[in-house]
This record gives sequence, structure tokens and C-alpha cells, in this order.
Amino acid sequence: MAPKKVFSSYFLTEDAQKRLESLGYDLDQSSADQLPRTEFLRRVKGVHGIICDSACQVDAETLDAAGDTLQVISTHSVGYNHVDLAEAHRRGIQTGHTPDVLTDAVADLALTLILMVLRRVVEAAAVIPTGQWCNQPTWMLGRQLRGKAVGIVGLGRIGEGVAQRLRGFGVSRILYSGRRPREEAALRAGANFVSFDELVRQSDVVCICCSLNDSTYHLFTYDVFKLMKPTAVIINISRGGVIKQEDLVSALANKIIGGAGLDVMTPEPLPTDSHLLKYPNCVLLPHIGSATVEAREAMGHLCVDNLQAGLEGKPLPNPIPM
Ligand code: NDP
Ligand code: DGY
Repeated sequence: MAPKKVFSSYFLTEDAQKRLESLGYDLDQSSADQLPRTEFLRRVKGVHGIICDSACQVDAETLDAAGDTLQVISTHSVGYNHVDLAEAHRRGIQTGHTPDVLTDAVADLALTLILMVLRRVVEAAAVIPTGQWCNQPTWMLGRQLRGKAVGIVGLGRIGEGVAQRLRGFGVSRILYSGRRPREEAALRAGANFVSFDELVRQSDVVCICCSLNDSTYHLFTYDVFKLMKPTAVIINISRGGVIKQEDLVSALANKIIGGAGLDVMTPEPLPTDSHLLKYPNCVLLPHIGSATVEAREAMGHLCVDNLQAGLEGKPLPNPIPM
């Protein structure tokens, strides 16, 4: 029997890659930093399995391009807003993702961003090459986390990880919002369920940890930023689409909020002439939430587990919930 054909939009980390190569598939992998859409569509033609990430739209056009050989889509991400689940399901194609193993890495990065924004780390570090240090006690003042109210939008796996870390910083309150209370997670995390408006009004730090879906697309608009405290900061480790980005630019320009820390934005990569780059109180990172050796190896293995099960016609160990 001919080996199953697999297209992967990139190479995995060392161990997971070796395992993928050892499975005997007819493997085509891209080494491009940004795989052009036309090439992606060309290379998935006739494959049985696709490994992709959140940068690849796996929609009806992709499924049409792959054709009826396709059995499994294994995304190397926990987020799955880029996969048309209903369409895949309709065609009997299994879909898998990589939950849990990246939670610590992303929650760590959320805390990193919170502290970078509150303590003006990027602004301060930029002084070093200029030599323009200042000894005045009023210079380069940031704010501390102790005693602050932190609002988590989406108390899922990562949201809970953020809440757990925050407790060590002596925050005054942890609030969360969502489509429904998550009582067990809230109890573990010491977080209180409030409405979205209450969360936005009361928090000194708002941390976006939800998935991107119809209810969260452009959740943060200029009107919402106006509800925030003028000193409050917004952190986003979720997906760029949760924030209406031009409204964030206006909020920063008009000093409606205290600052922003974003690991995700729209589009990615962010154009180098983006207005977001103008504001020293806006810290930007290139979507590195899960970029640790530990998380990426574990993600790679889950991704291969899902692929292998799907190609063998078995239930996936980590199916994307429908
Ligand atoms: P989970 O599914 O565990 O959590 C997602 C949470 O989003 C759920 O608690 C859900 O709560 C909440 N949510 C959905 N809709 C809303 C809403 N309208 N308002 C508030 N909360 C909402 O996923 P993870 O925690 O594992 O991952 C979360 C997201 O983080 C991923 O979907 C991905 O987009 C992003 N991510 C980013 C990374 C990065 O590199 N920056 C790395 C990994 C993930 P409920 O259903 O109760 O509303
Ligand atoms: C995820 O796992 O969802 C990350 O954002 C990687 O794309």
C-alpha cells in the first residue's frame, strides 16, 4: 500500500520531527517563514493529513484543494479559530489541537507582558544605548502589581494559569468574565465572576485569555476602552481579532488607557509602519506565547499523536471540541 501523504506547513522541534519522519509517511514540509496561500493550496492537493498552525486558514477552499483523500487536520496550536470545524465535520475529516502543554508557557508570557508594561521595561531598556540615565526620583516610574485588581477575560486553561501566578504578586482582586461562570476554576484561582462591563471598569490590568469566536471578535472597541480606568493596561495573549486594533491605537493616542501589551495582533506579522509602534507604553511581541523548548516539543508530539490516530482512522487523543 502506498504511504499516506502528509503536508506540514513547517518543521517541528527536534524530537517530534524525528518521530514524524520515522512514521513512513510521504511527507512534504515547508521551511518558509510565511507560506504563501497559493503554495499552501497547491501543496495540500491529494494529501491524507495536514499539519498546520494558526497562520494557515483551513477553510472550505483548503478542504476543496486537498480533495476527498483528506482524513485529518492536526493543528500545532491550541487555538482553532483558523479551522472551519463545521465544514471539516461535514466532510468527515477529524480535527486535532494541542491543549494544556503550552498553558504554562503562555501564562508566563502574560505575566511577562503585564510586568513589562507596568514597569516600562522596553522604554527603560532603550535608554541604555543612549547613556541618558537620570537620577531624579520621579524618572521612569512604573506601577506595582501588589494591590491591583486584575480582570481576566476568559478563565480557561491559560486564564486560570494567569490567575494562579497573579496570587503570588499580592493583587487585591482577580475578576473574570465569560459566557458563563466557571466555578471550579474560579475557586482554584480565587477569581470572581463579573459581567464584562464590570470587569473592564474595575480592573487595573485587563488580560485577554479567551478564544477568538463570534462572541469575542472585536470585543474591545473604543467605547470599551473608554470604560477602563485611565491608568489601566490591556494585555492580549489570545488573538489579535479580539481587539479592534484601530480603536486601540486611538485609545493610546488619546491617553484613554495607561498602556498595552500584545503578543498577538492584526495582521501578523504586524506591518512595520503600524501606528501601534508609535507608543512607548505599548509593548509588542511577535506571537511567542508558546515559544519555549518544553512547550513546543510537547505540542509537536501531540500534533503527531493526532495526525497518526487520524490517519489510522482512530479517534484523536486531542480532538478539537465541536
Ligand atoms: P480554553 O478553551 O481553555 O479557554 C478559552 C476561554 O475563552 C474559555 O474559558 C471560554 O470561556 C472563554 N471565552 C469564550 N468566549 C468568551 C467570551 N465571549 N467572553 C469571555 N470569555 C470567553 O483555551 P486556552 O486557555 O487553552 O487558550 C485560550 C486562547 O489563547 C486560545 O484559543 C488561543 O487563541 C490563545 N493562545 C495564544 C497563544 C499565544 O501564543 N499567544 C498560545 C496559546 C493560546 P466560556 O466558554 O466559559 O465563555
Ligand atoms: C496557539 O496555540 O493557539 C498559539 O497561538 C500558537 O499559534
